[in-house]
Amino acid sequence: MKIGIVFGGVSYEHEISIVSAIAMKDVLKEELVYIFCDENRDFYHIPTNTIKSKLFSSGEYKKCDSLTLTKGSFVKKSFLSQKSLDVDVYLNLSHGADGEDGVYASLFEFYNLPYIGPRKGASSVSFNKFLTKGYANSCGVKALDYKFYTKNTPVVIEDFPVIIKPVTLGSSIGVSIVKDQKELEYALDVAYEFDDAVLVEPFIPGVKEYNLAGCKINGTYNFSIVEEPQKAEFLDFDKKYLDFARTSTALKADISNELEEKIKDSFKKIYNNTFEGALIRCDFFVIDNEVYLNEINPVPGSMANYLFEDFNATLISLANNLPKVKKI
Ligand code: DAL
Ligand code: MG
Repeated sequence: MKIGIVFGGVSYEHEISIVSAIAMKDVLKEELVYIFCDENRDFYHIPTNTIKSKLFSSGEYKKCDSLTLTKGSFVKKSFLSQKSLDVDVYLNLSHGADGEDGVYASLFEFYNLPYIGPRKGASSVSFNKFLTKGYANSCGVKALDYKFYTKNTPVVIEDFPVIIKPVTLGSSIGVSIVKDQKELEYALDVAYEFDDAVLVEPFIPGVKEYNLAGCKINGTYNFSIVEEPQKAEFLDFDKKYLDFARTSTALKADISNELEEKIKDSFKKIYNNTFEGALIRCDFFVIDNEVYLNEINPVPGSMANYLFEDFNATLISLANNLPKVKKI
């Protein structure tokens, strides 16, 4: 199978998308075609042998990107010219706005191209933290209380600490924990740098977080291990994405079978039919043995490959069982 990996993109998560794409080279055993989108929205076909899997491991990621590293070996193309690239299936690995939010899904669907990833409606719902709350609620999955504010509306907080998040970004970008009134204004300025709307949620120090990735193939769920991310107060960008020491053994949550089943059950309610065709990661909180959805990652970092026993087999099986594009 020839897989076209679409990555890079124009969002704040451009770099993390490059990390995700590079990770695929080590874990997918199929033929890969790398299609890079630069910040000007131009697409390039990058020869796979110039994709370096250790690019980001030395901490040099801030200085370089794949454009500067492989300049000269690019062929500029439209990624939608499936015939010329001879791709069997696309894998959307663009995180953030104009990538993970349904934009690519719409393009793939418009041109009737097979792709792995959430369909456009599912992308929009999961990319927007405000819509996610309502969606979780309608699926019968709990989510933390929240307040929604748009720029220039007064923010009134009675109980600190809180966590302030831009409504539509991922990868913890623009997110702050606010301990008192003094810190509030700065945190709001930071969040509004990235988005015109914010969510304010209670911050629960030491809350247990568990992540689960998976997909439904022919009606059967294929789950990763349940991950217990590092027990840091809060995972910042570097800890979350550039720590290549993460492995399924190191991350496996030490929880009861009963809790594992509850987490899987919540995942199923969220995934349902809405996310068919995608491999997603749901991040949950557990409070007093109750499971709360924190967020849905429609295009998880590195496709959460490090959480699966056999990621290659899972992805190929998903690719072979994609939902049919509905004819209208
Ligand atoms: N938004 C990123 C990539 C994640 O949470 O996995
Ligand atoms: Mg996330």
